[in-house]
Amino acid sequence: MKIRKLIAGNWKMNGSLAANAALLDGLLAGVGAAAAEVAVCVPAPYLAQVGARLQGSPIALGAQDVSAYAQGAYTGEVSAAMLQDFGVRYVLVGHSERRQYHGETDATVAAKARAALSAGIVPVVCIGETLVQRDAGQTEAVVGAQFAAVAEALGESIDGIVLAYEPVWAIGTGKTATPEQAQAVHAGLRARLRDAYPAAAGVRILYGGSMNAANAAELLAQPDIDGGLIGGASLKAPDFLTIVAAAQ
Ligand code: 13P
Repeated sequence: MKIRKLIAGNWKMNGSLAANAALLDGLLAGVGAAAAEVAVCVPAPYLAQVGARLQGSPIALGAQDVSAYAQGAYTGEVSAAMLQDFGVRYVLVGHSERRQYHGETDATVAAKARAALSAGIVPVVCIGETLVQRDAGQTEAVVGAQFAAVAEALGESIDGIVLAYEPVWAIGTGKTATPEQAQAVHAGLRARLRDAYPAAAGVRILYGGSMNAANAAELLAQPDIDGGLIGGASLKAPDFLTIVAAAQ
């Protein structure tokens, strides 16, 4: 089964009205009829600006987080229904920066994924091990446990997610997992998806962690790497477009 790849930019906490406009101009000028699906996950205050600019374009709108709760007294939170109001198609959940700096647990991540799905938004569920865990030979166990928490919470609706493998040690460090290291983890995740629910074998598994214009083609050529989640390189239109073009 040929899976259409997804290249998603994660702008993280970067941007301004002016910088976003310039970046989007560059992206829209060069994206053309990409073989891959393309998305940008932007800071919540810019959803309206970016959504308006992307209207009718081949680039989908994404957010970086969503509340596990539907509405009410949760100061500072943004609900899935609010994201839906702005035409959001994808939302990151469980990014390692949220797990690390905002205390998100596997249970929180699973609840957020469920909230997104119930609003018709595709959660991009991020999982990955730290360097200490990798060096201790725990990669498979760590990503397996992170995956299992989401699989148990979602049941058969697991087939509506996107999975992103982001080794923590590769994020923003310039250290990329080798294509072989990434492929090995992705193949394990594919098997877990299939075991969880046969239809979930077609769930896209993205790689994230220092993917850039120079290394994207080799990573994206691996049989179980179905796209990329790009941080730093998504802030430069030419680099991001090179990665998009590498995704066939
Ligand atoms: P970098 O591409 O900057 O390493 O970030 C990866 C990431 O965290 C994407 O979500």
